[in-house]
Amino acid sequence: MKRLLVTAALPYANGHIHLGHLVEYTQTDIFVRAWRMRGREVAYICADDTHGTAVMMRARQEKRSEEAVIEEMSAAHQRDFAGFSISFDHYGSTHSPENKAFADHIWKSFRERGLIRSASVRQLFDPVEKMFLADRFVKGSCPVCKSPDQYGDNCDKCGSTYDATELIDPKSTLSGAKPELAEAEHHLVSIESERPWLTEWTQVEGRMPKEIANYLMGFFLGKPLLDWDVSRPAPYFGFPIPDAPGHFFYVWFDAPIGYIASTKQWCDRTGRRFDDYWRSEETEIVHVIGKDIVKFHTLFWPVMLKVAGFTLPSRVQVHGFLTVNGEKMSKSKGTFVLGSKYLEHLDPAYLRYYYASKLGPKVDDIDLNLEELAARVNGELVNKVVNLASRSSRFLAKTGFAASYPEDGGLFDEGARAHDEIVAAYESWDFARVTRVAMALADRANEFVDRAQPWALVKTPGKEAEVVAACSIALNLFRQIVIYLAPILPKLAEDCAALLGAPLDRFEAAKKPLAGTPVGTYQHLMKRVEPEKVQKMIDESKPAETTTTPTLPAPASTPSTAAVEDSGEPLAKEPIAATCTIDDFTKVDLRVARIVSAEAVPEAKKLLKLTVSLGGEARRTVFAGIKAYYKPEDLVGRLVIICANLAPRQMKFGLSEGMVLAAGAEGEAFVLSPDSGAKPGQRVH
Ligand code: 2FM
Ligand code: ZN
Repeated sequence: MKRLLVTAALPYANGHIHLGHLVEYTQTDIFVRAWRMRGREVAYICADDTHGTAVMMRARQEKRSEEAVIEEMSAAHQRDFAGFSISFDHYGSTHSPENKAFADHIWKSFRERGLIRSASVRQLFDPVEKMFLADRFVKGSCPVCKSPDQYGDNCDKCGSTYDATELIDPKSTLSGAKPELAEAEHHLVSIESERPWLTEWTQVEGRMPKEIANYLMGFFLGKPLLDWDVSRPAPYFGFPIPDAPGHFFYVWFDAPIGYIASTKQWCDRTGRRFDDYWRSEETEIVHVIGKDIVKFHTLFWPVMLKVAGFTLPSRVQVHGFLTVNGEKMSKSKGTFVLGSKYLEHLDPAYLRYYYASKLGPKVDDIDLNLEELAARVNGELVNKVVNLASRSSRFLAKTGFAASYPEDGGLFDEGARAHDEIVAAYESWDFARVTRVAMALADRANEFVDRAQPWALVKTPGKEAEVVAACSIALNLFRQIVIYLAPILPKLAEDCAALLGAPLDRFEAAKKPLAGTPVGTYQHLMKRVEPEKVQKMIDESKPAETTTTPTLPAPASTPSTAAVEDSGEPLAKEPIAATCTIDDFTKVDLRVARIVSAEAVPEAKKLLKLTVSLGGEARRTVFAGIKAYYKPEDLVGRLVIICANLAPRQMKFGLSEGMVLAAGAEGEAFVLSPDSGAKPGQRVH
């Protein structure tokens, strides 16, 4: 079996780690830990991505050197990652002598192949700061939908991509000045000559998720590839290009080279041979990335590697974006949560488990719903898993495990047989499946404990041996489940190993129960999620003004208004209905509800079947005519508003017990959601 080198994308050194980043580092960490638990050789390599205009500007604003900025950020990143148990083998920096040497080498290789040309490029220039502006440093109105305050590369509102020079009324975000168009010499790498093998390489089964391979075929590889602009003129924080004075490598040129440089540092530090990793067919390289940086890793990067004689990746694993409560993370709503803020209030195991339970092998976006997180952690991890240990281990503190593993009706063997499925699920990046299998085993183990009732037996004289037998079974089933979950919950696995005096560092250990060995004193293994702490984390993630300043009505003389540019068309199409009284209105009982499951009704063109929760046990089935507009899986977990006292309606496919509120006329539907913080069952007034 080949050795594995696994990387996660290098985080930028101009910002802190947030919960969105952690999807990727957690996903990668789980994969790597699972390989280690199979006894396989695997290295997890990462580094800070340090270069570019953003770091340079931050250093200028803070009146210190770029080096000081990136050093501080690297320490903060590493602290946060350690807090979430991310087990890198090495964490480097792209601002390192190793990275410079590799960047120079790759550049030289392109030169030797005659793949570099110079060209004059017209770009926006800030006349006050006297520098060319990267797209992220220009804002203006979108040339397509005219929304104000959009960045120079794409529009947040309508999703269009465009050139910064197309923005309407552009402004430099650095000085506020109107940018001018200016010309500068740039250096471009031609990759078109590599298209034939690149096409073949991207389409190899298993190289990357199928949807990504198709996207590359459809959008890029079917026509000539454009040259890639890899240089930036001074001033720029980066490596100077050796044979082009006054020009620097663009941050995206040397960023992925950081994977190689960081591996080199790790090899030097640990006495390994670098060539065994990046110049060997015996190592499989796996990159884990978000879907926004696919182009860099699947088009430019393989060409850079090939031209310079390095091993190409075997797999590029791609994940989707994170939304929180169904929306983009938002600072004002407190859902843009930094890793360090999370760690002040909550156990990292919660997030690792929750992310794992949502992560499959596909490139789907995942939604973090904090109420769902609390419900799953409390209902699954605490009630089903940890409770197995707390209910059984204390009865074994004096005796230890039974001398031989008792007859359990086949429960342990059934768990042992899950070994292969668990290993396969980890290998195929299907961590959601791991959690499902583990929970099914936990259900069976709990049924056993509920039947055996050791806490009752212990009160009956003469039943001591039965108590030991029942608890030996329960605690071994607990251990088996924790072994399977160990890559996801490493801290729980460590604590379990300490309690039972036996390591949980191999999946194989799940095949053999413990017998005749001592059991330590039970210490709390995991606390329940406390909603107040979740709320505190959200409150403290809001910008200071919104939490510390009481909201006062705006003075009459300075009315607070939003620029109104909305079209009058919807109202004209559907005029407001006849007046109703407040009594009429209160007859309609609108409630907040959470969608707990959603499925398409195969026989109906328009309908999705939704099960919504009104809190506690209250559930309703609602058929909603939104099939054309929403994917069922995107709706699960979302809070919606339903009309709860609408007379139930018998439909061909079942009884519809309410109505989900949505806006929009024929041909469109926008499901309404309350602001985050609303609770299922609350009435809408
Ligand atoms: O998108 C980002 O956050 C980049 N800093 C990722 C770089 S990954 C690699 F190429 F270095
Ligand atoms: Zn737009």
